[in-house]
Amino acid sequence: MKRIGLLTSGGDCQALNAAMRGVVKCLANSKEDVEIYGFLEGYKGLIYGNFRMLTGRDFSGILTKGGTILGSSRTPFKTIKDPDENGLDKVDAMKQNFYKLRLDCLVVLGGNGTHKTANLLREEGLNVITLPKTIDNDLWGTDMTFGFQSAVDIATDAIDCIHTTAASHGRVFIVEVMGHKVGWLTLNAGMAGGADIILIPEIPYDIKKVVNKIEERNRNGSSFTILAVAEGAISKEDAKLSKKEYKEKMKNYKYPSVSYEIADQIQKMAGYEVRVTVPGHTQRGGSPCPYDRVFASRLGAEAGELILKGEYGFMVGYKNREVVKVPLEEVAGKLKMVAPDASIVKEAKMLGISFGN
Ligand code: F6P
Repeated sequence: MKRIGLLTSGGDCQALNAAMRGVVKCLANSKEDVEIYGFLEGYKGLIYGNFRMLTGRDFSGILTKGGTILGSSRTPFKTIKDPDENGLDKVDAMKQNFYKLRLDCLVVLGGNGTHKTANLLREEGLNVITLPKTIDNDLWGTDMTFGFQSAVDIATDAIDCIHTTAASHGRVFIVEVMGHKVGWLTLNAGMAGGADIILIPEIPYDIKKVVNKIEERNRNGSSFTILAVAEGAISKEDAKLSKKEYKEKMKNYKYPSVSYEIADQIQKMAGYEVRVTVPGHTQRGGSPCPYDRVFASRLGAEAGELILKGEYGFMVGYKNREVVKVPLEEVAGKLKMVAPDASIVKEAKMLGISFGN
C-alpha cells in the first residue's frame, strides 16, 4: 500500500491536471494499492489539513483541462518559517499532517518558490517528489517546464492578431509577455510571432537603440513595428541601479508596467503612435497544448515510477530530450535564465531581430 499526497502550489498553468493524472495512472497500472490525498490550495492544504481523498475516477477526463482540480495558492517561502496569524508553526504543521496521514510521499507540482519549500520539507525528513510547472520556464535543472509551450502558443496568438492590425494602421505595437524575471516566454513567442524587437530582462535595453530600429524599419518601407516586451524587461540605466535604488525609483513609478514606459518614450522621442497589448493571465489559461499534455503525462508517469521504487527527494525534469531525476537540493533557489550569448539569441539577431542593446 502506498499513501500519496498531491498538491499544486504557486501560479497555475496548463497541464497541471495532466501531470497529476500521469502520476495516478502510473500508480493505478502497478500492482500496488494506492491511497491518494489531494491537498487543497497548495501548501495551505497541507498546513491546515485541508484535503480530499481521491480515486482514479477524479483523474478521469482531466488530461485536457486547464487550471488545477486541487486549486492553488501562493505560500511565499520567505515567510514559511514565520508562524501564521494564530501562532501556528507552518513547517511543523505540514510535517504533522504528513505523519498523521502516514504518507509515503508528497508529490508537489510547482515553480521556483514551491521548490524551495519542497526542498525544506525534504531537509525536514519528508519524502518528496516534485514536478516542474510554470509558464516562465525558469526552473533550474530542467530544459523545459510544463505550461511553457501552451503559454508560448497563446502569447504567439496575441502577437499574430496584433500583426494584422499593426499592418493596417502602420503603428508601433507592444505586446507585453509574462515570464516574471526571465525572458524565455517572450523570446520564443516573439520569434514565433515575427516580432521585430524583443526585450527581455537578461539583455537590458537602450531605448535609443529601440527607436533606431523602428526608424530603420520605416526607412526600409515597413510602416509598422512589433515589439515583444517581457514584463520584467529592464533598461540599461535601471539595470545599473542597486536593489535599494531600484526599489526607491519604483515607488514613484507612474506606469502600469514597463511596456507603457517604453511606449511613452518612443512616442516622445520619435513621435510614433504606440499601442500596448497585455495578454496577461490568458497566457496561463485554457487547455494545455498537445505538447504539454504529452510532456506533463510523461513526467507524471516517471514520478509514479519513482514512488513505486521508493526513490524520493527528486524533481522529475527533462534534460537533453530525456526525462531525468534531479536532486531537489540542486534545483531549489536557482533561476534558469536566458544566456545573452545563447545560440537562440544569436540566431534571432541573425534574423534581424533587435534586442535593443
Ligand atoms: O510565474 C507565473 C507568472 O504568471 C509570471 O509569469 C507572472 O509574473 C506571475 O506569475 C503573475 O503572478 P500572479 O498570478 O500572482 O499575478
